[in-house]
Amino acid sequence: MSKRFYITTAIDYVNGQPHLGHAYEKVIADVIARSRRALGEEVFFLTGLDEHGQKVQQAAQADGKSAQVYCDELAASWTAFVGKLGLTNDDFVRTTSSRHKEVVQAILTKLHVEGHFYQASTEGFYSTKEETFVTEKERLPDGTFPASYGEVVKLSETNWYFKLGAHQQWLIDHIEGNPSFIQPDYRRNEVLGFLKNNTLEDLCISRPAARLTWGIPIPFDPAYVTYVWFDALVNYISVPAARGDSTVLAATNSQLSTLNSQLSLWPADVHVIGKDIVKFHAVYWPIMLKAMGLPLPSQLLVHGWWQKDGAKMSKSTGNVVDPVAVIDDWGLDAFRFYVVRELDIGPDGNWTDAGFAARYQAELANGLGNLVNRSLSMLKRYRSGVIPARHDELAADAAKASADTVKHLRASELQAGLHSIWTLVNRANQYVDQTAPFKLAKDPAQAARLDEVLYNLVESCRVLAVLLHPFIPGTAAKIYAQLNLSATLDKLALSVWGGLQPGHVIGEPAALFPRRDTPKA
Ligand code: ME8
Ligand code: MG
Repeated sequence: MSKRFYITTAIDYVNGQPHLGHAYEKVIADVIARSRRALGEEVFFLTGLDEHGQKVQQAAQADGKSAQVYCDELAASWTAFVGKLGLTNDDFVRTTSSRHKEVVQAILTKLHVEGHFYQASTEGFYSTKEETFVTEKERLPDGTFPASYGEVVKLSETNWYFKLGAHQQWLIDHIEGNPSFIQPDYRRNEVLGFLKNNTLEDLCISRPAARLTWGIPIPFDPAYVTYVWFDALVNYISVPAARGDSTVLAATNSQLSTLNSQLSLWPADVHVIGKDIVKFHAVYWPIMLKAMGLPLPSQLLVHGWWQKDGAKMSKSTGNVVDPVAVIDDWGLDAFRFYVVRELDIGPDGNWTDAGFAARYQAELANGLGNLVNRSLSMLKRYRSGVIPARHDELAADAAKASADTVKHLRASELQAGLHSIWTLVNRANQYVDQTAPFKLAKDPAQAARLDEVLYNLVESCRVLAVLLHPFIPGTAAKIYAQLNLSATLDKLALSVWGGLQPGHVIGEPAALFPRRDTPKA
């Protein structure tokens, strides 16, 4: 059985409601997943929830609920969110599920038997917010610790540690030898800089059950639960194990009771993550995999962070973008389009409501929407909706847009993919202005020319629908429906010019993106 293209998102902490950052990461992963399917690959797309650890335990306490009840309630709204975003994920992992916990424990047992862990006691400063010991090095000149750590308390305790040091040079060599492993390049350079200038400290993988109960028990020492990151990262292989992936099953010695399939998934092709969690994915996770004898993922694709109106989003100040409210107001595809078009995968972005409305108006309503609406309406009006003989005046423009889009999609360059698609939107709108079909229609001597123009326009709309499908699938489907075409739009190969057959009768045109003159308050 052939290995699938396996793509994941970070799994989100269930200590609150989903926000723009979560939505963005999921949408870009979905566009990549849909692109790969459209390129003919078999895909497995995983997203889910990170439910253990102190943050969640505290949030549940503050809500007056047991941690499990709290997680179950929030998980319902997070799974609804996945539907709201139109994601095509093939599974949804919750780290409190038994299929996940079994694999984490199997790995801990195996690594313990093989001597990767040791017990030691530390005295130090501990940040509850970040669930980590903070070192003296991080102390600020005034003696305090950076605000990002929240409250820092003095703590002395014995824990289990995972030996990392032995793998440091191996990891540097791997990152240097595989330039696409961490993308974009500046993130890769940051990791290399960190690894070359610091000696890796061993990773504390346990938390005493006396102060944290909400975690996976360490199988060889019931006085402890597993550190939340050692638990969370494993989701990327626990789901493959549960799906019968033989590579993972062999390496983890896991004996899963119910195997309903035998997919081949690992190693992952892309882990989509945000810039704040690079160290966990680029340092700890590769070393965990190395210790388990598993191959590394092909790529960590690191996106930047969104701000709103130039400031950090924060619930306490109310400076937030609620993706669900935006989708309810403007539609799912307007949201998906905007986040991908506005922000390349890598740098930080800034959300403004005015910027969103401006792109909606210029690019969706006046650009794409107007092109499709006037092209189909003219065919309806002048030719009763019947496709004329094939004509190839825009064929080369369409072929170039398709080839460029495909090239960018293969490289997960999504914003550039939309740029390529819009070269055809703009070319076709310009073609309407240049050929002025509404004038041609008034002159019976120009009937043949009008046929040519209409074929080029309507076929361009069809090609656009195919190219847009990974990004804005609902709109792509609407265009196909208005063209009265029933093919499923899941193959980029359908973008080859000439798909519309002469004599075919299109359906009813309808506005794709209604113009909105006064933005709602
Ligand atoms: O870190 N803009 O969960 P999380 C863009 N459970 N992306 C953002 C963002 C913003 N303003 N805020 C957060 C965790 N993100 C762990 C992950 S993976 C094994 C465990 C991104 O809910 C963030 O960068 O805090 C991360 O990739 C994801 O949302 C989940 O963040
Ligand atoms: Mg976070």
